[in-house]
Amino acid sequence: MSQVEAADQVEVMDPPLADSNSAVSQLRVPVRPPIHLPQEWFHTLEGPAFGQLKLGAFDNDLTVHGVADPIGTRVRVHGKITDSGGIPVKGALVEIWQSNASGAYRDSLDVSGFPLDPNFIGAGRCMTDAVGNYSFTTIRPGPYPAQFRDGGRAWRAAHIHFSVFGQSIGHRLVTQLYFEGDPLIAHDRMINAIPNKRGQDRLIAKLDIENSISESFGPPRMFPTVDGSGAVVPTPQRTDPGVRLARNPSLLAYRFDVTLRGERATPFE
Ligand SMILES: [Fe+2]
Repeated sequence: MSQVEAADQVEVMDPPLADSNSAVSQLRVPVRPPIHLPQEWFHTLEGPAFGQLKLGAFDNDLTVHGVADPIGTRVRVHGKITDSGGIPVKGALVEIWQSNASGAYRDSLDVSGFPLDPNFIGAGRCMTDAVGNYSFTTIRPGPYPAQFRDGGRAWRAAHIHFSVFGQSIGHRLVTQLYFEGDPLIAHDRMINAIPNKRGQDRLIAKLDIENSISESFGPPRMFPTVDGSGAVVPTPQRTDPGVRLARNPSLLAYRFDVTLRGERATPFE
């Protein structure tokens, strides 16, 4: 078998490096030949090197950093990071960033005009545990219309940007996760740049109803009415004692497993 024939038999899972649907992809493609660095430089550094900022206890809960709960459906995105042989990757840094429930990013480059949520920053991080598991609590991001390089505009499906640093700073997967059952996935130009349905499916987090929480919590709340009747229940403030425990714990869980290399590798996006 020739090399060309062998290459033809390899399933392509990643979108083109320079994808006309993605302005970002145009910026990540090298335009100059590689520079060879001395062996002792940082690129041979073993283990994670994440700078000076330590992970905080609630860095993986994007819903508890405001004075009140952010607007939106609370979700837990969790899963396992494995290597090509199915071996869990422990101590990997997982980072996410996303829009709020209205589809807006807290980013000066976001000119959508959609409202920001004062209680939602939209970024979080954690490290995988000893068996490669990670977990984030956040809100389901809203879809938003995006402008593409070719001048076209199209709706993005709800998605969370997802990055994994492996065992060294040079091993990084940057991708996006989508939500099972979202009808916009069929129209999303980013995920459809992946030329293989099985590759696309690997970016779709699966509803995990068993780990979802559906609580009926607390007494019925009464709200002020226009004429002033009805009891006013003040909005709990994050600084109030016990407010973390007093929250309604309901959430929808989604499972998103990531494989870093090999035939079952999660595609870049
Ligand atoms: Fe996005």
